[in-house]
Amino acid sequence: MNKRILSGVKPTGRPHLGNYFGAMRQFVDLQNQNEGENFFMIANYHALNFIQDKNTLKKLTDSLIIDFLAIGLNPEKSNIFKQSDISEHTELAWIFDSITTVPYLKRAHAYKDAVAKGGEENVSVGTFTYPMLMASDILLYSPDIVPVGLDQKQHIEFARDTAEKFNRIFGETFKLPEEFIVQNVETIPGIDGKKMSKSYNNAIYLFANNDEIRDRVMEIVTDSKGDTPINVFAIHRLVRNEETLKNIYEENKGKYKILKEILIDDIINFVEPLRNKRKEIETRNDYIEEVLKNGRERARATASSTLSVVKNAIGVL
Ligand code: ADP
Ligand code: TRP
Repeated sequence: MNKRILSGVKPTGRPHLGNYFGAMRQFVDLQNQNEGENFFMIANYHALNFIQDKNTLKKLTDSLIIDFLAIGLNPEKSNIFKQSDISEHTELAWIFDSITTVPYLKRAHAYKDAVAKGGEENVSVGTFTYPMLMASDILLYSPDIVPVGLDQKQHIEFARDTAEKFNRIFGETFKLPEEFIVQNVETIPGIDGKKMSKSYNNAIYLFANNDEIRDRVMEIVTDSKGDTPINVFAIHRLVRNEETLKNIYEENKGKYKILKEILIDDIINFVEPLRNKRKEIETRNDYIEEVLKNGRERARATASSTLSVVKNAIGVL
């Protein structure tokens, strides 16, 4: 494969199995298959809508960089950078805001959820225009593929629409990105069976220690389909081959405690090498700095050349 790949993650909390299997693992798989250039971004300006405390935002950002390296993103193949280091993102977002209407943005699921949760009077303008910043993140780099989880599908469609609209008004400028959502994985359920999410207190964290894993698995709600505890199985199939699992579940019908014990061991076996790698990288500050510096330089070169074309097209150059 010889494609341009780009994706991003918000530093809003520790990554969980849903983030990993729904999105982040695909970054690594794609990177390893790709001969073309890869860009993976820490979307810290998107996170600002959720995290408004200096030390917390800094800590979560630094931590996510280490997570990226620990899961196998390889700086020899991928440019890893912070969104806030490349001011072209916010600049292009303003240009997109200017060609986008209010009713269009009101259709965004994320905006509707925020209104449902806190009332419109408490929704930040940043939350409202979130899709325009994300469209900028994407379109500055002309990627062929943007790997994301299912819940980001609409944002990719917004980026495509915005690119089309810009091209219509100002002439052919942007290439249209495709989304990339992995088959079979889609939405990973949490310990309560609902979508696993940092905000629902139902997540199993990717870099959790053994006690945390044990506690969380023991809390999994065991609604069953026949004698199979569906929520246990849904998480189990992520970390162990589904065929061997079917036998195990057949042999232990109705024995929820035993199945949970097996799941705990399988999660630990799966995450242990990632945890070890994370520990090793955590101490290498100079290396992390170097990775970010290289990523930033490549990102900046690409983003600034796209923005020049855009500024020329709209008549500000
Ligand atoms: P959260 O809901 O925990 O705040 P984010 O919104 O930060 O997660 O999502 C980061 C990435 O992980 C996105 O690409 C998203 O689609 C993916 N993702 C998050 N939760 C899940 C899930 N339960 N199943 C599949 N993918 C997920
Ligand atoms: N909005 C994405 C999320 O919540 C994160 C993100 C920001 C992103 N910019 C992006 C993903 C660009 C892909 C491409 O997960």
